[in-house]
Amino acid sequence: MPPSTSSEKRPNAPTAGKSGGRSGDTTGGQADGAASDPVQIRIRGINKTFGPQHVLRGVDLDIDRGKINIVIGGSGQGKSVLMKHLMGLLKPDSGQILVDGEDIVPMNDRQLGELRRKFGMVFQYAALFDSQNVVENIAFPLIERYHLSREEIMTRVRDLLKRLDLAHVGGIEQKFPAELSGGQRKRVGLARALIDRPQILLYDEPTTGLDPVATKNVDDMILQASRDFGVTSVVISHDMASTFRIADKISMLYDGKILVTGTPAELLRSQHAPLREFIDMAGLGHGDEDQATPSAEPRR
Ligand SMILES: Nc1ncnc2c1ncn2[C@@H]1O[C@H](COP(=O)(O)OP(=O)(O)OP(=O)(O)O)[C@@H](O)[C@H]1O
Ligand SMILES: [Mg+2]
Repeated sequence: MPPSTSSEKRPNAPTAGKSGGRSGDTTGGQADGAASDPVQIRIRGINKTFGPQHVLRGVDLDIDRGKINIVIGGSGQGKSVLMKHLMGLLKPDSGQILVDGEDIVPMNDRQLGELRRKFGMVFQYAALFDSQNVVENIAFPLIERYHLSREEIMTRVRDLLKRLDLAHVGGIEQKFPAELSGGQRKRVGLARALIDRPQILLYDEPTTGLDPVATKNVDDMILQASRDFGVTSVVISHDMASTFRIADKISMLYDGKILVTGTPAELLRSQHAPLREFIDMAGLGHGDEDQATPSAEPRR
């Protein structure tokens, strides 16, 4: 395991809002009042081009603290690109991204490294290391960052496996990603994102390619992470059934901008044509997605 600085030895602060100790403070200089701001991330007017392609054209979006914030939109609209901006994996051509009040756009690599400790990311296709077993995959962020004993690591990994309902899978700890089902892989991906107790969890298409039962399990997993771990969740999805089942707030990315944003009930009443089309195309309320009815039934 790599050595670590003394300030990094105890990544143990439960998610009570504030991060670690003074010197381990994630973004340094964060205003004390930031944790009480109901908006954790403010995105203002971001533009992003790739060559001639203008993908984001002035995106404004608030990510609410401790809530499940879902971004919907068609394939290729820029959802993944937008998400990568939140933790500084991509820089906008212009605009601001304020995380707990601090603009991350001008940050250098070292500052971004610190910032990223606030985040956990669950990738579109789980993105596990094929040559590492489940324990190694989940423990990876800890091994990279902290000097923990094998026992401490195993305790934390096993605790997460239990909490994420993976512990009953026979021999799960030693299995390799190829030996897991799609749903199990996603939960292992979530465990890896949660192991360092992030404040903000980003999920890119967590239910892609799953059947309705596995989809429901992933939904429950996102709700659980939100409720039990108190994280701010940002979920990208084109699964409308899931979205209306778990979202506190839904925002639609369309034509490089946020076309509409609101609670599930507000979106269902919205008359924006591209949104209506998107919802109708999803075939909510019929077909084999039998929990799909986006009725006014709140989930929590
Ligand atoms: N690194 C990159 N270099 C060049 N173009 C890119 C890059 N990343 C994304 N793009 C382009 O930006 C556009 C938006 O891509 P993005 O991956 O954000 O779509 P998406 O909304 O997540 O779609 P999907 O639902 O299919 O995942 C696409 O046209 C894509 O080709
Ligand atoms: Mg994508």
